[in-house]
Amino acid sequence: MKKTKITLHPSYVIGDISPRLFGAFLEPIGSMVNGTMYNPKHPTADEQGFRGDVIEGLKKAGVPAVRMPGGNFVSGWRWKDSIGPKEQRKQNLDLAWGQFIPNDVGHDEYLQWAEKIGAEAMYTINLGTGDLNDAIDIVEYTNFPGETYWSDLRIKNGHKDPYGVKVWYLGNEMDGPWQIASYDKDPRGYGILAHEVSKVMKFTDPSIETVACVSSCPFLTHYPDWDRQVLEQCYESVDYISLHHYHSAPVGDIGALMAGVNAYEDYINTEIALSDYMKTMYRSKHTMMISLDEYASSWREPKKASWGLNGRLPASTFYQFDPSKKFIHHDPDNMAAGGPPMLTGEVVSAVANASIGLLMLRHADRVKIGCATGGLSMYCASNHDYVWKGASYYTMSELHELAKGKSILPVTETDTYHVDSYAIDDQNQYADIDNVPYVTAAAAYDEDKGELNVFVCNADWEEEHEFTMDIRGFGDYKLVENLVMADDGSMERNSHDNQTLHCPRPVNDATFENGIVHTVLHKISWNVFRFEKAK
Ligand code: AHR
Repeated sequence: MKKTKITLHPSYVIGDISPRLFGAFLEPIGSMVNGTMYNPKHPTADEQGFRGDVIEGLKKAGVPAVRMPGGNFVSGWRWKDSIGPKEQRKQNLDLAWGQFIPNDVGHDEYLQWAEKIGAEAMYTINLGTGDLNDAIDIVEYTNFPGETYWSDLRIKNGHKDPYGVKVWYLGNEMDGPWQIASYDKDPRGYGILAHEVSKVMKFTDPSIETVACVSSCPFLTHYPDWDRQVLEQCYESVDYISLHHYHSAPVGDIGALMAGVNAYEDYINTEIALSDYMKTMYRSKHTMMISLDEYASSWREPKKASWGLNGRLPASTFYQFDPSKKFIHHDPDNMAAGGPPMLTGEVVSAVANASIGLLMLRHADRVKIGCATGGLSMYCASNHDYVWKGASYYTMSELHELAKGKSILPVTETDTYHVDSYAIDDQNQYADIDNVPYVTAAAAYDEDKGELNVFVCNADWEEEHEFTMDIRGFGDYKLVENLVMADDGSMERNSHDNQTLHCPRPVNDATFENGIVHTVLHKISWNVFRFEKAK
């Protein structure tokens, strides 16, 4: 049996844990909005057509923040066509996803839905076809109290109080050659635009925070120089940079899936280094924070890939002008158009994605926002009729509930493994991945409440680990609960009829003596250790 040891001490403080770390990302693709969030024909639909079962499911899960309304979609979305009486709204085309956008879910509905699920709305503005005026007007409409055209219009449209949106994303993936009005070829141009837009938005509402795009994926040829050039222009006027990455593994290759944690670590470290270089260059007092607002580790069927480019593709790869393309109408009551994404149905995927959550906690001093893609389904699995708790409901909601206070560095001694290079498709080509840790951890310490919560993912699919955890430095603490959810090898998923097939269950296997825990970590497992200060 392999051995893993973790040492924790209250002086190993990384930083304050942001309440926005375990959020979700929402975009009207397939049935994510039309069908899941919104279906006026659903038996639980409310007066706005929102599904009540989804609202309740997300409330129960405690999703803290949602980045909306996209995604690539937003770069062509005219928010002004989506407000006011529904019968007067315009139906537009979404060029990013080849769909009709009827705008029955519009700007106000997105924000009011967020209010209903009790989550903070984090809003992405259109910097593709949108301009500086749109940016000023949207902040005025959304956040200004009244006595201007746009704020009075919000009041007329039924929302007297300002929405108070705090976090604003300055476009989506503006480097991506696929993006409408991409700045792939002009990082300086986007940097200047982001700077100017951020300025006018903050002139309108000085309490807001803004997020600039950097490379939307570490596979792109221009990464990370695009990012450097953007930051040169807007370092002082924005508060966060937006990172996106989707880690993919061939179906069934657990080692490759779990290795996502190394890819995210490299990406985050690179962006921190770049930001700090800018800070020094400008002799600035401002420290750039990180928003990892689209992420997921998921299985994908490998396609034929052209080796040799190592995933660093020329922009022309992304242009697809297909004369046979048909724009899709999404009927919210018919999910056949593409069901909700189920990226994370089984325990293996839940553990792989939870390990990204732990990584964000280990960077808690810099990573302040996290949004899981398919985040609604990670928190609340659903189909046309029902919602239920999948395995990732438990990891996400426990992280949200228990990761509070300060993040403490878990010094982790564990074996590592190697993943041979592999390709999923032309873009997703991985070089060898070295030194992937089997066991990763994070710890949250709330000194005032006398609570220490330690989260441990064991990615090892072959062996259990003899596990020791030394918390002697905390003094007089007792172990009050040890929760474990482990893979049973079946790859079965929870369903509406069986929501606890996989769920963390309290176990009494661990011994805790003189500040040291001894137990065994099951293969592919999610483990939570809750300690409280002895009274
Ligand atoms: O989640 C799907 C897409 O992935 C989003 O629209 C975009 O931001 C990213 O490339």
